[in-house]
Amino acid sequence: METIRKDFILLLFSCITAKIATREKQVFQVYYLMAYTIALAGKGGTGKTTLAGITIRYLIEKRKQPVLAVDADSNNCLNEALGVNVHATVGKLREDSLQIIRNGAERPGGMSMEQLFDYQVQQSLIESKGVDLLVMGRPEGPGCYCAANNIIRKYTDKLSETYPYVVIDNEAGMEHLSRRTTHRVNLLIIASDPSVRGLQTAKRIDTLVSELDLDIASRVLLINRISGDEGTELQALAERLNLRVGGVVPHDDLLLHLGLKGDSVFHLPADAKSLRSLYAILDTLNIT
Ligand SMILES: Nc1ncnc2c1ncn2[C@@H]1O[C@H](COP(=O)(O)OP(=O)(O)OP(=O)(O)O)[C@@H](O)[C@H]1O
Ligand SMILES: [Mg+2]
Repeated sequence: METIRKDFILLLFSCITAKIATREKQVFQVYYLMAYTIALAGKGGTGKTTLAGITIRYLIEKRKQPVLAVDADSNNCLNEALGVNVHATVGKLREDSLQIIRNGAERPGGMSMEQLFDYQVQQSLIESKGVDLLVMGRPEGPGCYCAANNIIRKYTDKLSETYPYVVIDNEAGMEHLSRRTTHRVNLLIIASDPSVRGLQTAKRIDTLVSELDLDIASRVLLINRISGDEGTELQALAERLNLRVGGVVPHDDLLLHLGLKGDSVFHLPADAKSLRSLYAILDTLNIT
């Protein structure tokens, strides 16, 4: 009886929240309707893109789809990991839109610049089985990356309302954190290589997230490319650094060759050790 009453109160609360959200389009909506967002961060070459690709495959196989994949690295590579071709990037679209303004050209159907750009971004989504990819790219020429960053943030937020899961692959370093392109994230995966320096960078990222007070619900460290028994020692060091260790992913020659050929993670055999260990880690992370 007690449970039924609790369920009824919860249902009532959800209905009220939904009502407020649709009427007012305010903060409530963010928590009620937003996607579950996973973002990758870490030092250069630690495996962010590869791990992002395998995470997307995991979500699709667990029927947690459709997934919006966001390649927020100006030097886009996530498409390769997913096995799709890029036909448009947000950076290039912005250049084109600016050109339209400069030329004073007629906009189709008298659309406002913003409407036109919204439309183009929708068109630029690369659709694949279970996943749509949005690619930031970079502005042509000596343009500033900030504009592309702001746009990718805006559209990730906008599109998050229509996808249950979002995975964001970031560029190396911490720029994306201070620019706040990585915010409203449920799970931040910090990737490290199997080295003390890798862990120290991971710690700096973790500290910056706290200092900037970013809206990131939880963060875990993944130590990637473990090839011997160094995992235990590195895990202990990570814990001393107060990092929450999600787990370790072994070095896998199959992944290395995949990377060399620019092949997709969807071609990795289901029993590949890297894939199996990442899946096991993701199983423990309570991705709802
Ligand atoms: N567990 C692994 N075993 C073997 N090779 C791996 C593993 N993880 C990643 N790699 C390889 O390491 C290389 C770098 O990986 P990846 O491009 O995913 O790193 P990144 O962090 O996204 O790099 P960047 O900072 O340049 O964006 C790739 O060739 C990839 O195939
Ligand atoms: Mg990468």
